[in-house]
Amino acid sequence: MYFTKLAALLASAAAVASATNIVTFKSTDSVDRTVYFTPSAGLRELGSVEVPAGQTVDVTIDQGWIGNFHAVQAGQPNVPGMLGEVAFNGWNGLNYYDVSAIVNPGDVDNVSELYPFEDPGTPVSGCAVFPCNNAYYAPDDVQTKVTSQTHLVCTLGKNSSGQKRDVEPESESVARDYVLGKR
Ligand SMILES: *[C@@H]1O[C@H](CO)[C@@H](O)[C@H](O)[C@H]1NC(C)=O
Ligand SMILES: *[C@@H]1O[C@H](CO)[C@@H](O)[C@H](O)[C@H]1NC(C)=O
Repeated sequence: MYFTKLAALLASAAAVASATNIVTFKSTDSVDRTVYFTPSAGLRELGSVEVPAGQTVDVTIDQGWIGNFHAVQAGQPNVPGMLGEVAFNGWNGLNYYDVSAIVNPGDVDNVSELYPFEDPGTPVSGCAVFPCNNAYYAPDDVQTKVTSQTHLVCTLGKNSSGQKRDVEPESESVARDYVLGKR
């Protein structure tokens, strides 16, 4: 069943292979944040981005970029938190993403959810309210989502409920290796 869906994604991946990769950071509350990016070994460093309270900011991501990001509230030290993990144009040309609590499960009010901008059939990763069973808490969980879409949205803050499209997504997932570029 799932492989039928992967095959369909593969077929559509060809059509979007040259599309620009974008993550839209969407503040859901009254807090200013800075988003910091950490590339996978050997990939380009991306500059940090300010996301003012209540604003959305689009960030263009390199073709083939694999890495993660976390958000830090204004005035707070830059320590790694809840991570959004992405692998754009990864295995078989598809895009992999998840939210990971592995390094800092205590960060419950910054990176919240990650999902395709425009694709009701593909799933949300992360939680509007942490903890939930839709994020990584252990490396061998199977929580990485996959989409042919190259435009993702990452909500910031505890006010993320109701921000995403109202279609309840499917919840099929693949192993974390895919978002880490190990496939
Ligand atoms: C939560 O988000 C809504 C918009 O979706 C906004 O109107 C409201 O002010 C936000 N609440 C807080 C506490 O920031
Ligand atoms: C995220 O948000 C909270 C505010 O609720 C803050 O205190 C916390 O330190 C932030 N960052 C991390 C990395 O936990």
